[in-house]
Amino acid sequence: MTVEEPQVEVPKAELHVHLEGTAGPDLVRRLAARNDQVLPDDLFDGSGAFQWSDFLHFLEVYDIASSVIRTPQDYRDVTFEYLSQCAAEGVVYAELMSSPDHASGAGMSYQDHLDGIAQGIEDARAAYGIEGFIIVTCVRHFGVERAHVVADAILRQPHPLVVGFGMGGDEAGHRPGLFADVFAKLHEAGLPCTVHAGEFVGPEGIREALETLPVKRLGHGVRAVEDADLVAELAAREIVLELCPTSNIATGLYADYGAHPWPALKAAGCRVTLNSDDPPYFDTTVGAEYDHAAHHFGLDGDGLRAVTRTSIEAGFAPETTRQAILARLGL
Ligand code: ADE
Ligand code: ZN
Repeated sequence: MTVEEPQVEVPKAELHVHLEGTAGPDLVRRLAARNDQVLPDDLFDGSGAFQWSDFLHFLEVYDIASSVIRTPQDYRDVTFEYLSQCAAEGVVYAELMSSPDHASGAGMSYQDHLDGIAQGIEDARAAYGIEGFIIVTCVRHFGVERAHVVADAILRQPHPLVVGFGMGGDEAGHRPGLFADVFAKLHEAGLPCTVHAGEFVGPEGIREALETLPVKRLGHGVRAVEDADLVAELAAREIVLELCPTSNIATGLYADYGAHPWPALKAAGCRVTLNSDDPPYFDTTVGAEYDHAAHHFGLDGDGLRAVTRTSIEAGFAPETTRQAILARLGL
């Protein structure tokens, strides 16, 4: 295989994608029409793509677009369509971050949002054999109280497909330590945790997350590269980095793939993965991330397979499921 070819035959895995953020303009328009919802004209640009200027504006546009997901059937369709696209690109394992806060903003209960997503995952498994799981997330700029509401729903209504907990949102204004109690109770209940850190805040945000939250992985974590001691600590502690190169370029963290620290973090011994984050907003897919890693980070087929192995090893799904996938694929 040459590195110029699309990496279609490499089995792929994804640990970091926001489910509500997988619905592209076409699906958002279809769901809005189905729910008699009028979308603001400026949600899309002239070519029909989502239109946003900076990260905080992205979060606003994301909230509006996500508000079209109003019923369990809508969640089922968003999930099934995303996993179908993933399967077509050779993705075998995907963890989807869901946001009960967005669901409740659209009038849906925690259980309804879960039922819809679970149906989409089961339908996609039956159709394509892809394994999907759910990481339930809270949104840090919605505040600690709402994060507790999400955590309590997880604890009250456990579901076999909910395998982890995470937190996204505006990192700059909302420090991880504020959420220590939320994470602690889920961790004590046995739910593995991840958190967005080191995306819009530098190494200090990652250090605080590691000191205050019981996380095994970091969403992004990319800005650890600014502190060699921290990189060494991440490597030594085998904290897995859910890296999202195209997302980071789209939101202005790095100018281009050549400037992205993915290769540097890997060379320093960190456990690095490839993820799409919010694919239609950033004009990417899991397959595209693997292609970029081949073209820009110098990964050959074996290197890409090793990334998939890292992702599946670091997955939060039951050990037996993950071991079975690794064995079936010879990874
Ligand atoms: N929510 C959706 N996408 C996000 C991102 N890239 N960072 C933080 N929160 C998010
Ligand atoms: Zn994210």
